[in-house]
This record gives sequence, structure tokens and C-alpha cells, in this order.
Amino acid sequence: MSLCLEKLKTYLFRDFNTFTMIRRYCLFGILISVLSCSLHAQEKMEWFGDAKLGIFIHWGIYAVNGIDESWSFFNNYISHEDYLRQLEGFTAEKFDPDAWANLIKSSGAQYTVITSKHHDGVALWDTEMGGISVVDQSPAGRDLIEPFVSAMRKNGLKVGLYYSLPDWSYDDYTHHTRTVKRYDIDDDPERWNSFLEYYQGQLDELSRKFDPDLYWFDGDWEHSEAEWEAVKVRARLLEHNPNVIINARLKGQGDYATPEQGVPITRPESKYWELCMTMNDSWGYQGNDQNYKSPYQIIRIFADVISMGGNLLLDIGPKADGTIPPEQLRILNELGRWTARHKEAIYGTKSGLPQGHFYGPTTLSSAQSVLYLFLPHPPKGPVVLKGIKNKINRIRVVGDGTKLSHTVIGKMYWSEIPGIIYIDIPTQNMDEQMTVIAIQLDGPVDLYREDGQAIESN
Ligand code: GLC
Repeated sequence: MSLCLEKLKTYLFRDFNTFTMIRRYCLFGILISVLSCSLHAQEKMEWFGDAKLGIFIHWGIYAVNGIDESWSFFNNYISHEDYLRQLEGFTAEKFDPDAWANLIKSSGAQYTVITSKHHDGVALWDTEMGGISVVDQSPAGRDLIEPFVSAMRKNGLKVGLYYSLPDWSYDDYTHHTRTVKRYDIDDDPERWNSFLEYYQGQLDELSRKFDPDLYWFDGDWEHSEAEWEAVKVRARLLEHNPNVIINARLKGQGDYATPEQGVPITRPESKYWELCMTMNDSWGYQGNDQNYKSPYQIIRIFADVISMGGNLLLDIGPKADGTIPPEQLRILNELGRWTARHKEAIYGTKSGLPQGHFYGPTTLSSAQSVLYLFLPHPPKGPVVLKGIKNKINRIRVVGDGTKLSHTVIGKMYWSEIPGIIYIDIPTQNMDEQMTVIAIQLDGPVDLYREDGQAIESN
């Protein structure tokens, strides 16, 4: 980088005509600031890119009846009045932030994102901006975000705050339910301005009180970038903390993409991305929803995600008393066992091989010289790997160390095309969920990516 800058400087200041010099100085200045901005953007995203696993927490009054968060009144499945009556049952009496932090940490997650306020407008912190909060209006009677943030930080976890831009309960917000709109901005810009003051004031409060590492916005679809004043909001958050990361749901003002529920089939364009996903079919706690994914299915999805360079933000929905449902505990514990055993193939890795080389997820060490193959099923025969030009130094089972032997077939000494690698997999030492093997190469992975041609000289 500094070498590049030096070369650039030499070019820009080659001759000494004053006018050209001034123009070149300006150009140089612009270039420097562009380069340093993008360097800073890279640096601030570093922990996020390395983290791979985060735990999403949807905790709110909807856990009382066990119904859809906010959407249940928006979609008119329950009246707004009855929805808010859930405030009376939101006790948080068994909320143990340290136990949450231990659980999240031992799952292998490096960060967590909690709903500070969902679309229902019920804040979990002690907001002074008005609106509804569990501090004043529920038996919980206290700020829940504050102890959450300090417990997570104490345990070395990065903290993200989910914040819904829409507030369907707030009187100056445009939308109330799917069928009731309070007003149009064009007809009453003053009313909209008072909403802007309220929501931006809440964000100032969150930054000041909790200084989150990440903001996870949601619900931007209801208004335009200009209506939300998204550019200004981003600038204000960064002014408070230049390192804060913002997700993509602030009308294009974010740092990373957020596909939801469905695993992408092709690699998302955005360099940084995060798949958010429920364990069953609900974000918040719903006792009736027992449609849980198995630990294997979640681990499989996780491997697919990191193979394409993304993060998984796996959701839990605590109950209204602050306990975490046993099914969710079981999944997190098993995930934790698996991530601990395979940590070298997960954290700080880069996305793996493009399709065609191996039929399964892969990752690469940061120096790209160790290739990790995730074996989705206990193989019946040798594992096949194609198009690797490197010499293989060693193959071993991750988390166990067993050395594996391999053979190469179809390699002609006079051809550049690499042979097909067959790796023998032992039947013992296989992980109950998914075994990972490490292939140590003689240098950064070098791939053969061509479609083949006639060889003119043998
Ligand atoms: C959707 C839903 C919301 C949920 C979020 C999580 O945007 O509106 O209920 O919190 O996804 O990604």
C-alpha cells in the first residue's frame, strides 16, 4: 500500500508547472481520502468477517401469548389493544444475562444481536423519548438492554442492537396495521417530522447508553431513503462510533447484506453478508411451534454459509420470564460442541472453492494454504477432490488429528492438468454431525479452472 502511494506521488509531482501542481495536489488529496476510507471500512469489518456465527435474540412481549412478533396485530390476528395487554405478563423475572452470555459464547458465536425494539414499538431499554417501554409498562420494570450489553461484553462477545424503523404503535408513525394507515407524509409533513425526531432520538440514546458494535435495522421497506433520512442517520451513528457496523436494512446505507431464512444458492455479491435464520419457524418464542431444525440441519446450513464467505445469525426466542426454551438450549449446546471441535475450519477462514472441485462445503485458512472439506455425510468410499494444482503435504481429520492417505489418478506427467485426488476416510473418528478434513497444501491453493483441450504433444 505505502509502495503504491509512493509511486503515485512520484507520478503526480513529476513536473513543476504551478497550475498542474495544484490540480495534482487536489487529485492526490482525493485519492488519499478515498483510499483511507476504504481501508478503514475494511478494518472495521474485520471482526465481523472472521466471526462466522452470531446469535439473534427476539425477545419481547409477544412471548407472553406466544404469537408472531408485532405482525400478529399488524395482520389483524389480534387487536392492538389485546396485543399490548401482553405487557402485563412480561416479567423477565428469571432473566439471567450472565447465563445467556455463557450459553451464547459456548455455542461458538462471536456476536449477538438483540431486539431493542421490534415493529410493535415496545422498547426493552429505559427510553426517555416517549413511546412504550417494558421499563414503565410491564412487571419487568427495568432496563433489560443495559445488563444484557454488559454481560455480553464481559464475555468477549460483540453486541448488536436490532432496531425497527417502523413503530406501528406510535401515534405519529404512518402505518398502524395492514388495513389502517394513520396519514400520508405529503399531507402532514409536520407529523412525520415529529416521528423522525422520536426515532432518531432513540438511536442517539442507544448509541450514548450502549455504544453497540452493530446496528441491525429492520422494516425500511415502509419508506424511502429520503423519508427515513437514512444518509443522515448513518452519518450520525458513525459520528458517535466510526467503527459501528450497520446492516443493509437502512435503505442501502449499510455495510453488509442480510438474506433471510433461505440459504443463498449463489454467492451474494456483497463482500460481507449474513444469513439470519430461525431454529423453528418463528423469531420470537412460540410454544406451539415445534418445527425445529435438527442440529445436523443447522450445522449443514452453517457450513454452506461459511463456504460462501457469509455469517449465520441464528435466532433464539426467550420466554417472557427470560428463560430459554429447552429445545433451543439443546441446539445451541450441540452446535457449541461441533464448533469447538472444528474451530480451525470456521473462524477467520475465507470462503472455499468454487463449485466443481468438491461436492460439499469448503473453507480456506486465511493464508489459503489449508483447505477444509466438510463431509456432509459419512462417506461410503474415498472422498474425491479435483482441479488442485498444489502438492499435498498432509491430510488430517480436524479436531482429532488422524492422518489420512490419498492417491491421485489420471495425472499425466506431461500435462498441466491436475489428477483426481481420492482421499481415504476412516470409518472411526467421524463426528456425529459432520466431519471436517484439513488438506495442508504446499502454498496458497492453486486451482485448475479450465474446460480441457487436446494435448498436442505427449
Ligand atoms: C423480518 C420480520 C421481522 C423479523 C426480521 C428478522 O423483517 O419483519 O419480524 O424480526 O425479519 O430478520
